[in-house]
Parts: sequence; C-alpha cells; structure tokens
Amino acid sequence: MKVLFVTPEAHPLIKTGGLADVAGALPTALAEAGLDVRVMMPAYPEALDGIEGRTSGADLGDPLGFGRTKLVGGYMPDSGVPVWLIDCPPLYNRDGGPYLDTHGNDWPDNHRRFALLSWVAAYVGKVGDERAWIPAVVHAHDWQCGLAPVYLNQWRGPGPATVFTIHNMQYQGIFPKEILPEVGIDPALFTIDGVEFYGQVSFLKAALKFADSITTVSPTYAREIRTEAGGWGLNGLLESRKADLSGILNGADYHIWAPDSDPKLAKPYSRKTVEAGKATCKHDLQERLGLAEDPNAPLFGVVSRMSGQKGLDLLLANMGPLLQAGAQLAILGSGDPAVEDAFRQLAVDHPKTVAVHVGYSESMSHRIQAGADAFLVPSRFEPCGLTQLYAMRYGTLPVARRTGGLADTIVDAESGLGTGFLFDAPTADGLWSALARCLDAYRQPDQWQILRDRAMAQQFDWIRAAEAYKTLYQETISNNQ
Ligand code: ADP
Ligand code: GLC
Repeated sequence: MKVLFVTPEAHPLIKTGGLADVAGALPTALAEAGLDVRVMMPAYPEALDGIEGRTSGADLGDPLGFGRTKLVGGYMPDSGVPVWLIDCPPLYNRDGGPYLDTHGNDWPDNHRRFALLSWVAAYVGKVGDERAWIPAVVHAHDWQCGLAPVYLNQWRGPGPATVFTIHNMQYQGIFPKEILPEVGIDPALFTIDGVEFYGQVSFLKAALKFADSITTVSPTYAREIRTEAGGWGLNGLLESRKADLSGILNGADYHIWAPDSDPKLAKPYSRKTVEAGKATCKHDLQERLGLAEDPNAPLFGVVSRMSGQKGLDLLLANMGPLLQAGAQLAILGSGDPAVEDAFRQLAVDHPKTVAVHVGYSESMSHRIQAGADAFLVPSRFEPCGLTQLYAMRYGTLPVARRTGGLADTIVDAESGLGTGFLFDAPTADGLWSALARCLDAYRQPDQWQILRDRAMAQQFDWIRAAEAYKTLYQETISNNQ
C-alpha cells in the first residue's frame, strides 16, 4: 500500500513541537509495517540541507501563481524514509520558522505557503510523481495540510483515499474569504457546509468536511473534541462525522529517547542502574544550570511550548509552596513573552532553586528529562503529549492534568499501579493536590522506586500505532471505492 504522508514539519529536519516527532517516527513505523510511505513537506532551507541523497524530481510549473515549483527528492536522515520536498523559493526559502517570522509573527502569506503544500500533495495523490508512484492514501496532518482533501474533492474523478489527523484543534488556519480564488478553491465552497467558519475560511474545517477519515492522537481527545468545551467551535461538525473519527494514541521514538544509550546524558542508565545514573544526571543538570547541588532536593523539570494550552500559569501560582517544600525547578521553553518573563524573574529571585532556559535546545531537553525527579505537564488540554512518555522512560515521574493523551498514558499513583500523579481541576489548587502527593511520595524512597520502575517499563511503541493506521487506511480505501 502506497501512502503519501504530508506534514508541515518533521524531526530531525525541522521541529516546533510534537507533530515533528510524529512525522519523524510514524512513517518509519509504517514502513516497518510493510507500507510504501513517502513524506512530503515544504523545502525549507533546513529541510533541503538535512535530507540525504538529494535528487531533482518533477517540475510542476507555477500551479497557483506563487512561483516556479519543483519536487526535490531524498531520504530522511537516520530512517531512510523517502521524502519529497516542495521547492518554491519565494514561499519557503527564508529565515525564520515554518509558521512564524523571526519576530514571532505569523508569516503574512501562510495561506499561500500551506495551500501550495496541500495542492502539491493532492496533485501527486491524484496523478503520481514523475515515476508514476501513485499513493492509495494521502495522510495529511493539521490545518497546514487541510486543503488537500478539498482540492481532491474539487477535481473529482478517481483519486486517493484521504485521512486527516488533528494534532491540535486550537490551531485552525483561519483566513479572510478573499483568499479563496488566490489559492484555487471554488468560492462556491464558501458556505456553512463547506470551508466557511464564522465569515472566514478555516483550513481545519475544510479538512474535517472533506477528508474521508479523521483521526486524532489519543482516544480521550477524540471524545473531548466532540464536546463544546473541547471542540473550538467545530464540535458539532465532529459529532456529525463521528463514524469517521477515531483516536489513535501516538508512540514514543525509543531510539531517540533511550536513557541507556543517550549520548546527551552525563551517565546513561537503564532500569537496573537508574539510581546511580539519575543521581549523576541530576548533579550534572544542577551544575550546568547553577542550581544548588543538593541530591535530596526534589527537582521538577518542564520542557514545553509556553502557550496557554500548557497551563504553566498554574505552575507559576504554585511556585511559593513548591519552593517552601524545598523543591527545585528546571524549565526549558519559549512562547508567550509574559510567561517567559515570569519564569525569568523567578530565576533571578531564586537563582539556586529555579533555572530557566528560554529558547529551544534538543540537548537540554534530554538532560532535563534525565536529571529531574519529576516532570510537570499541567496542560489545560493535551491532544496526546509526548514529553510525559519520554519522562516515564527516563524514570522521571509525570505530574499532569487528567486530560487528552495525558489521561490515556499516565496511571495515577493512587491506583496501586501508578506511573505518575494526575489532577482534574485546571486550577492552582488542582495542580497543588498532585504536587503535594508527588512530594510525599518522593520522601518515601521505597514507594518512589516502585513508581519509577513501573514508569520506565511502560511501552508506547510506534509499531502499535502504525498497525492501527494501516487498518484504518485499508478501511478508508475500501469505503472510498
Ligand atoms: P506540543 O506538540 O503541544 O508542543 P508534545 O508534548 O507533543 O507537545 O511535543 C513537544 C515536543 O517538543 C517534545 O519533543 C519536546 O521535547 C519538544 N520541545 C518543546 N519545547 C522545547 C524546547 N524549548 N526545546 C527543545 N525541545 C522542546
Ligand atoms: C500537538 C499536541 C500534542 C501532541 C502533538 C503530536 O502539538 O499539542 O499534544 O502530542 O501534537 O501529536
């Protein structure tokens, strides 16, 4: 079965969050499950530099009037999965991130950047590449790829089955209706039964309307997004499509997140050597960050985008009691300037107990995962969440809100089979109820070791998810015929 996997980011080429981790690991697992999968994404400079075995592919002319567009072929580093980069220099050859410029503002032409990604995916989906490789399924991810099913629908006639995966309902790709002719979408689709959303165009809604199957990244999130509280205005539409909607839990890439062979750690460790290994990694982290080198202080780690979703304001509200209890905090992240500043100020006020690294650092993220005792994920909502999976594998007990994929992957310590600490109310007191239990457990080494060992033994493999996608692809193809 041939599958075209379309994404706006993929690790290790370019990454802003968990979607990149998924797009790095899932195609590899699909290939291991026997599928012929190719990744497609924009030819950002980092992606052109990062792929291996570069070849030039089809010249697509200037399909939407945004510039000459060619396919550049190659392979993902590490996994060797084939990849197509969409090379249209006026759109993608620039400094800055995939979605934001260097000042943190949305690119003003994001509708063009991601319409072209969707258009080329649909085109290759329908007619194939220059070697007549024609996919049976186009699997598109997040709003950036949302127009792919719409183009395919517009072009009519036989085409691939379409599967669309929601990684986050908050980001919808909303643009003024005037962009429709520019991106080659029939303005007649600007209706409530089409791509219209409160007077504007929504790329996410477009996908949810036109994709054959819809998935999201955990079973609990698949239920939450059908409610008013979790649906971001699209719960009604999702309810109407519930027969085609399913939740497939993400996995963790245990080749990258492997404490026993992680080159970024001061001392790699396994379940058997965790006590000594984590002690060394904790000391190394404290030393690097200028924290008091105290082996007994419970050290909490955070690696996160600093957006409202992640609930870091709840953590800020708890810093007083947390420090009072003798804890330390190491936080890595960036995003909302007010949250960044608040943590920076805390570190200035408490240099020996709070360390903040504002920015992005792959190596620091591994060191925090290994050196911390517990890992905080107080998210208001969390479609899946990957950092808690990495934390568990590193023997770092998650303290998290019982929502989305966090609820599906962490078992609360109270159950007797626990792997972490969960709370329900998205309030400062709610988070404190879990923090207090975590601090108690930390002071009882026997209990802590049992929890830690169980967390390290959890398996969230990608191959299980790949098998579930394979079944879904087969069903979608047969329903599409
Ligand atoms: P989301 O996709 O909502 O950001 P996930 O938990 O699914 O949340 O994935 C986040 C990914 O991004 C993880 O791999 C995490 O380690 C990484 N990450 C987040 N912030 C940073 C940062 N500042 N530096 C390095 N890695 C980060
Ligand atoms: C999104 C979600 C996160 C999820 C990731 C990968 O960015 O916020 O919960 O783990 O996508 O699916």
